[in-house]
Amino acid sequence: MVSSLVITGGQKLKGEIRVEGSKNAVLPILAATVLNGGLNVIKNCPGLKDVEIMIEILREIGCVVSKEGSTIIVDSSSVNSTIVPEAYAIEMRSSIIFLGPILSRFGKATIGHPGGCDIGPRPIDLHLKALKKMGTKIQDAQRGFIYCEADKLKGCDIQLDYPSVGATENIMLAAVFAEGDTYIRNAAKEPEIVDLQNFLIGLGVNISGAGTSVVHIEGAANKKLKNIEHVIISDRITAGTYMVAAAMTGGDVTLKGIVPEHISATVSSLREAGCRINVKRNELHISGPARPKAIDIIRTLPYPGFPTDMQAQIVTMLAIARGTSIVVETVFENRFMYVEELLRMGANIKLEGRIAVIKGVKKLTGAQVAARDLRGGAALVLAGLAAEGVTTVSSIKHIDRGYENIEEKLAQLGALIRREV
Ligand code: UD1
Repeated sequence: MVSSLVITGGQKLKGEIRVEGSKNAVLPILAATVLNGGLNVIKNCPGLKDVEIMIEILREIGCVVSKEGSTIIVDSSSVNSTIVPEAYAIEMRSSIIFLGPILSRFGKATIGHPGGCDIGPRPIDLHLKALKKMGTKIQDAQRGFIYCEADKLKGCDIQLDYPSVGATENIMLAAVFAEGDTYIRNAAKEPEIVDLQNFLIGLGVNISGAGTSVVHIEGAANKKLKNIEHVIISDRITAGTYMVAAAMTGGDVTLKGIVPEHISATVSSLREAGCRINVKRNELHISGPARPKAIDIIRTLPYPGFPTDMQAQIVTMLAIARGTSIVVETVFENRFMYVEELLRMGANIKLEGRIAVIKGVKKLTGAQVAARDLRGGAALVLAGLAAEGVTTVSSIKHIDRGYENIEEKLAQLGALIRREV
């Protein structure tokens, strides 16, 4: 189905919305449900295309999965396959996260090679290097598949060359039934890693250190894990995206159900741009300035630095700021594809490799633009909200991967936006 979002810009966003559960937390946790061979009740799951694909993979390997509202129930007692088909790997790169839990529980796993994607080559060398160190025999990229086998995974000391989120998660999951202790050094510190640790603790795994640079997992080769009920944390990137929507339209928006600590880098940049932001326990109120101020320089970094997943949104806001800003993308190689579309809306942005120099213009103008990836697509919607006239964003399947009913939430805040199929 080919859909577009049609936005008539210029409305100041006003009102209140609740932020959904985190995409990047729910995906590894759904993969981790394979571990206990029992019942997993996962609450606060966002309604996203990526989540549907995870459910399909779970069913494909033999799990019984049901859904009640935002709760997903996975019974993994009936898993009868250790193969994740290639088609899923192509559709969703995060399916690589099944490697750790399937290998840990069954001693073997076959998975379609995820390959590259639109935002860069996205290698998985760190995942595979760590699993090899734990005793896995790997035949990589044989006819599009990765074959992994380990009679007995062995806990060990793993030094990551880069704090990769996915590699940290995969190792945490692989280590659960390994013999002996695993230490992950230079681990990613993202909140989603902490949520995964909390899920594993709920299963009865002895694990600590998530949120710091060293994660320690006590492997328990023959341990029976428990059934679990777990609530997914709220999505810090979705929260940040709606904050930028308020900032760009001079709006007045309250976000409910957030974790303030998780969005502090975004809050700090938006305050620098002139937004007034009041943070309470699980709630935040933002009012945007008449026109945002430029920000000297922002560098995307692993958490707790400024998130690469907010780069496109902040650049889009700076495109209408007073003055010149610089944004440096240090995490991914090719994450400025949306800029070409912003130029068609009248933005003045110069790219030099991983650096964007953004000269703020007074107004963007509505145009027909295409989403090329998830966050870049969301950024084009933000541009449309602030632009003069009508913007049509096509290829919104990318946006649906990561935002639950984006047009309904924005319409609830007074945006003039509709989906056209
Ligand atoms: C996760 C997030 C994604 C986010 C990213 C960085 C999920 C489902 N996705 O992706 O939204 O943008 O973290 O915060 O949680 N790298 C290697 N070798 C590897 C693995 C990664 O070189 O084996 C490199 C990547 O190419 C990239 C950098 O490390 O340049 C960060 O990637 P990583 O942290 O692994 O991102 P993901 O887990 O794929």
